[in-house]
Amino acid sequence: MTGRVLRAVPRPGDDVSVSPCAGGPTLVRRAVALVDDSGVEHPVERPVVAVCTCERSQRLPWCDSTHKVARNTGSGVEVVPGT
Ligand code: FES
Repeated sequence: MTGRVLRAVPRPGDDVSVSPCAGGPTLVRRAVALVDDSGVEHPVERPVVAVCTCERSQRLPWCDSTHKVARNTGSGVEVVPGT
């Protein structure tokens, strides 16, 4: 896979869950933030967040459901558990 990698920072004492959805976003659970390749931290304020993998969202890194109207070709966004 090529493209962006987002590191999911877990809640203290917890493990992050990363679940890709076919043709859609990647669901991330129990994270406090996502950190992108540039080191920019995106705070997580919900128990579960949907991370855009098609890179067409108007509010990256979060999914805004644009993938439903523009076919998600899996351009290469990967979410990995961080520390
Ligand atoms: S995966 Fe939903 S807008 Fe990109």
